[in-house]
Amino acid sequence: MRRERPLIAIDGPVGAGKSTVAQRLARVLGCEYVNTGAMYRAVAVAARAAGISADDREAEPKLDALLKAARIDFLDGRISLDGRDISAEIGSPEVGESASRLSTLAVVRARMRDLQRAAGARGGVVMEGRDIGTAVFPDAEFKFFLDAGAEVRAERRWRELAARGVAITREQVLAQLHERDRRDRGRELAPLRPAPDAIVVDASRVGVEEVVALMAQRVRARGGAA
Ligand code: DC
Repeated sequence: MRRERPLIAIDGPVGAGKSTVAQRLARVLGCEYVNTGAMYRAVAVAARAAGISADDREAEPKLDALLKAARIDFLDGRISLDGRDISAEIGSPEVGESASRLSTLAVVRARMRDLQRAAGARGGVVMEGRDIGTAVFPDAEFKFFLDAGAEVRAERRWRELAARGVAITREQVLAQLHERDRRDRGRELAPLRPAPDAIVVDASRVGVEEVVALMAQRVRARGGAA
């Protein structure tokens, strides 16, 4: 099925500023915003409530059953699990870590991919994640890969967490970030990497406003705006 409007994929590692950039770009272009990291985080919340961990021997069949029964809804940056808004709860470093572990499993990736494809089917969506341009929508009209050095990303992430009152040091954030990078880039299924046709943007050098302006310009130049 042809999309009526473009699908804009923004992939990149933790802390590169994807969420801020993707949300603003969606607003500028009059598109919907979908945060796929939040969906994996919702899975982590559901798995924890059900007592399932990624290392369990029977993790895959248990998660398969759990995800078939669970209802994950997302709209305008809010996310709910079985009707309960879990947007605040999913922001913790523990949930992020658990989401990263669970995201290595095939059943989880398959289920998320189906949800994401349904969410983007008609286009007019800015979708951020790790594998949107490579695995979920390899045919996306626009693909951006937002990257930045580990120190810059750790600093940004630490500020975000500190602003939310999470007690954590910069060093701890940097160590967690290295670990998450290693897992997200090294996993077997849909590892984090730029699609061959992605435009790579280095967010260490350019500020958020500039990044958004650059992306919006690319989209409009090809007639992709609303
Ligand atoms: O973007 P985030 O930090 O909220 O994502 C949490 C984890 O979810 C991330 O470490 C890996 C996984 N993830 C993924 O595997 N694929 C995506 N498209 C988005 C997130």
